[in-house]
Amino acid sequence: MSVTVSWQRDHIRAVIRLHKDKPGALLPVLHAIQHEIGYIPDNVVPLIAEEMRLTRAEIHGVISFYHHFRSHPTGRHVVEICRAEACQATGCRQLEQHAKNTLGIDFEQTTPCGSVTLEPVYCLGNCATGPSIRIGNQIYGRVTSDRFDALMDTCRDSMQEAG
Ligand code: FES
Repeated sequence: MSVTVSWQRDHIRAVIRLHKDKPGALLPVLHAIQHEIGYIPDNVVPLIAEEMRLTRAEIHGVISFYHHFRSHPTGRHVVEICRAEACQATGCRQLEQHAKNTLGIDFEQTTPCGSVTLEPVYCLGNCATGPSIRIGNQIYGRVTSDRFDALMDTCRDSMQEAG
C-alpha cells in the first residue's frame, strides 16, 4: 500500500544522508524518499541536489527516466498492471481496458475519491501466471475482470475501515 504523507525537511535530509555515500547513491536515495513520502515532490529535488552535489537537471533526468519514480502524489492504493510480453499473451490488454473503464481513469491517474492510482508496469516477475497485477506490495496472478473487481472492492473496504 502506498500512502502519501506530508514530509519534513530535516527528516528527508536525514534519509538522503543515510544513503548518499553508497555507490550509485541517487537511486537508493530516490527509492527511500518515495518509500517515505509516496512520491518525489519537486521541492525535495533541491535538497537532494544540495546534499549530493548534483544538479537539479541530473536528478529530474533520473526521476523521469525510471517508470518507478513518481513526481505526483498517489491514491491510497497503487494498482500496477503488467503490460510486458508474457502478460500480453494472457490478456493483460483486455484487463487493462476493463480496469480503466471500471475505475474511470487512465494510467498515471487517481480516482477522484483518492483511493486508487493506476499505473503500468513492465514485468512483475510473475510471468507464468499472467495477467499479473500488483497492489501495494502484493502480486496477484491470473487476474480476470471479475477478480479485479473483487480486489477493487477490497481496496474500497479498507478505505472505509481506515475512516
Ligand atoms: S510479463 Fe507480466 S509478470 Fe512478467
